[in-house]
Amino acid sequence: MATRNDPNLPFEAQQIRVSTDSSWELNGITSVLTNLRVLLIISGGIAAYKSLELIRGLRAGGAHVRPILTKGGAQFVTPLSVASLACEKVHSELYSLTDESKIDHIRLAREVDLVVVAPATADILAKMANGIADDLATTVLLATDRPILVAPAMNSRMWDNAATRRNLAHLQGDGVMTVGPAHGELAEGEIGLGRMAEPAQILAAIDNALGGPLLGLCAIVTSGPTHEPIDPVRYIANRSSGKQGHAIAGACARLGAAVTLVSGPTAEADPPGVAMVRVETARDMLAACLEALPADVAICAAAVSDWRPAEARAQKIKKDKSGAAAAPADLKLVENPDILAALAAHENERPRLVIGFAAETDDVVAYAQSKLVTKGCDWILANDVSPETGTFGSNHNKVHLISVAADGQSGDAATVEEWAYASKLDVAARLAQRIAYTLGSAA
Ligand code: CTP
Repeated sequence: MATRNDPNLPFEAQQIRVSTDSSWELNGITSVLTNLRVLLIISGGIAAYKSLELIRGLRAGGAHVRPILTKGGAQFVTPLSVASLACEKVHSELYSLTDESKIDHIRLAREVDLVVVAPATADILAKMANGIADDLATTVLLATDRPILVAPAMNSRMWDNAATRRNLAHLQGDGVMTVGPAHGELAEGEIGLGRMAEPAQILAAIDNALGGPLLGLCAIVTSGPTHEPIDPVRYIANRSSGKQGHAIAGACARLGAAVTLVSGPTAEADPPGVAMVRVETARDMLAACLEALPADVAICAAAVSDWRPAEARAQKIKKDKSGAAAAPADLKLVENPDILAALAAHENERPRLVIGFAAETDDVVAYAQSKLVTKGCDWILANDVSPETGTFGSNHNKVHLISVAADGQSGDAATVEEWAYASKLDVAARLAQRIAYTLGSAA
């Protein structure tokens, strides 16, 4: 229950307390909510009254709630009730000088762990999908780099409208998470799909989004090929698509890890919720991985070019014009650094678990076992990339997981597990689960 100590003081100076609400049934999700900093955006819909209940639930679980109330939202709930329940000042104005001097919209957008939009009207979803920033809420949504969860609430016709469907698909593709809407009685007395999810469901969605078994752990994933320049127009590359590495980064992020994905050039979309570092060469990839340390786990799925031209020419190399059978340019190659081996041998910041891949065309398991030894890593996922398997570029993979045996031995004494032929997404999910299990039991 809110109590004010002196109603004559300016709002920010007042001591507002809300007692922990024992009536909230949190069903074991309190650990995710403890100290979680939530930016709650309340936009204009009748469901805004349920957001007051959501604030109570978040606070009961130990979360800090920083509220933004849009102009529309303020038609349905008052700033006073929101502030009283959140124990925080309500932010509404983009151009408020007092706000700008104390906390600008960029800090509002970043100094949180999660942004929740509840209720999310069709209007705010449309603005988010199109990058429109015309008030405080939409500006913060555009500026944030934190996970966003939206709880749509609107009339069922608006929900079914092709524009809303497009906007939502767009947002989901950008990694925005959604909860609801539910089927039921709507504001206008109609029955249909459009009711905002109940506060308890929103809390469960937060738990789902942030409560994964890799929560609090950092992962570095390498992915894709590298491009090693010969001259300004030519380079050495390979057939890696980046599908497996990107899928692994996404799977680890879904389980709650803070993932840095260091990727060579690929056509793959950025997995939601990962920090992307785009590189071209093996040397840049190594530098980016070292920069991303410390980490709990490193997964090297990139197909790093083993060699690079000794010299990348500043001008395009021209054909010898002296005769029809022009001699090919003489290309001298030098070896690239081994990123996996460098991470596994790192003196001060070796990740607890270092995982490599072995791309082989023959003797897959035997070669992979020897790589486990030479590279000094803990696990190797061996995959057959011979042309008949079509692994490169395909959506499927067949792997063996080879790990150092419990006695610390590798090579022949290592454990070899054959995984069934599966989609690269499934391989990634299984690997992420295994990492969570291993790091969890070692903690
Ligand atoms: N790797 C790396 N840096 C390199 C080469 C490879 O980090 N310069 C990593 C890959 O990301 C993969 C593992 O080492 O996790 C094995 O890569 P692979 O291409 O199968 O083997 P190579 O080390 O290149 O050996 P070879 O070409 O002889 O098979």
